Amino acid sequence: MTKPPKEIRNICCIGAGYVGGPTMAVIADRCPNIQVNVVDLDAARIAAWNDSDLSKLPVYEPGLDAVVGRARGQNLHFSTEVDIAISKADMVFISVNTPTKAKGLGSGQASDLRWVEACARQVAKCAKGHTIVVEKSTLPVRTAETIQAILHAAQKPLVDESSPRSFVVLSNPEFLAEGTAIQDLESPDRVLIGGEDNDAIEALAKIYSQWVPSEKILRTNLWSSELSKLTANAFLAQRISSINSVAALCEVTGADVREVSMAIGADSRIGERFLNSGPGFGGSCFKKDILNLVYLCRYFSLPEVADYWQNVVTLNTWQQHRIARLVVKQLFGTVTGKRLALLGFAFKANTNDTREAPAINIAKDLLEEGAQLAIYDPKVNAKQISMDLQLHESSPPDSEAGPTRAALNGEGTWWPESSVIEAVNGADAVLILTEWEEFRHLNWAMIAPKMRQPAWVFDARAVVDPIAVRSTGLKLWRVGDGDS
Ligand code: NAD
Ligand code: UGA
Repeated sequence: MTKPPKEIRNICCIGAGYVGGPTMAVIADRCPNIQVNVVDLDAARIAAWNDSDLSKLPVYEPGLDAVVGRARGQNLHFSTEVDIAISKADMVFISVNTPTKAKGLGSGQASDLRWVEACARQVAKCAKGHTIVVEKSTLPVRTAETIQAILHAAQKPLVDESSPRSFVVLSNPEFLAEGTAIQDLESPDRVLIGGEDNDAIEALAKIYSQWVPSEKILRTNLWSSELSKLTANAFLAQRISSINSVAALCEVTGADVREVSMAIGADSRIGERFLNSGPGFGGSCFKKDILNLVYLCRYFSLPEVADYWQNVVTLNTWQQHRIARLVVKQLFGTVTGKRLALLGFAFKANTNDTREAPAINIAKDLLEEGAQLAIYDPKVNAKQISMDLQLHESSPPDSEAGPTRAALNGEGTWWPESSVIEAVNGADAVLILTEWEEFRHLNWAMIAPKMRQPAWVFDARAVVDPIAVRSTGLKLWRVGDGDS
């Protein structure tokens, strides 16, 4: 007979980021009997999670404010007191960042696990009694071994305690996508739990079963669970690189990538989702997770497999540079001193996240060419753009006064704008880089007269109505459109 699942009454989540915050908010909302403490070293981030004005939460996600509003102060708490939260917890989620290593062994490919290791050591130091440690971060396959080694070395009573301490490690990767995080968390396609200890697996499954149908809670061994997360992201990214490669072919053959997507997506074996061609995938995870997969393949002496996945990333970077190059080419081979309106900076719509946003590489290429960029994004602030471009904002030049000295010297500049209509003022081109809903409904009859003619629209997300744009006399390029 299996033992009844351990009753979880207190959860600690280390990491109050894009995953830790929303995930724990939904758990707290759905499990009123569990106290959920989300902790982070970043005091400013925690202060923002505690802001009484819910529009100031550090993560923008549709529906998140309502969930936090219901649970915060009841059974959902945000704090910087990591040690205390760990010591009170029956279950500790590790939801910290796992970026690509920037230096040393495996630099540029392997995951940097320093934050995960620090968490394991902190849990080893502060936990009391029996603690279930859950890997929520995306990790290289077999990371649980490292965490287990650190925890097992600490499996002895604390100085002030007589009872022994014990630990179990589970893998529970997160599949939410930004912009739809709450929807994904509330009705996930599946929840994946990997582990060896049945009691611990069932204790975690019991939490999710408060709102997820039991057939959607999948159980595997630890290594399958860790590897499934990397594989899921690699497959999704691979579809985007595949369709973007075909988009380039469409543009030179007269085909339309949306028609090709529709035709292939109608095959139920392929399916219609994730076939939108665009400026390449961004976001904090696709690139880093594939590079991690590449690193693992090389580590395990599988160079052909590594090369296969590496090409998904190579094609993605190529797509971003290709778009910047074609803008320069269409604007008579130079953008030096020309004003370009960049609409959208976030890596996708409905998020304020700019990590690996295609807009960064495209903007940097254009700045390198000496362009003057008026950047508008409804959710991304100027400070973030400045950090991403590694360039301070300039004051907007007077659109009537002719090129400035800096412009004539060929120095690229950028400045933030607070609306589309201000951004397009005096511009030679509009570039649409994020698929924000408002960009689907732009009034081109109003925009065209404000631009310097002949003017272009480069629609890297294929959100505009081509007839509406062209009827105003504007020239149009749309990704994957052989008619452009
Ligand atoms: P994030 O950078 O937004 O948040 C991580 C947080 O962890 C930061 O606030 C940081 O201060 C904190 N932190 C780091 N070390 C700490 C420590 N020792 N003690 C306390 N706090 C610490 O990252 P994220 O986007 O939430 O991603 C977290 C993990 O989830 C990553 O492994 C990522 O690959 C994975 N993931 C992300 C997404 C996504 O959509 N962003 C989706 C699925 C999985
Ligand atoms: C992705 C996965 O979808 C999640 O399942 C996963 O949990 C997450 O990564 C992660 O591990 O971080 P996310 O990056 O938030 O989620 O967003 P996606 O919707 O996957 O979009 C990623 C990028 O691909 C965006 O830049 C988006 O614009 C682009 N994309 C997406 C396309 O260019 N075409 C598409 O058809 C779909």
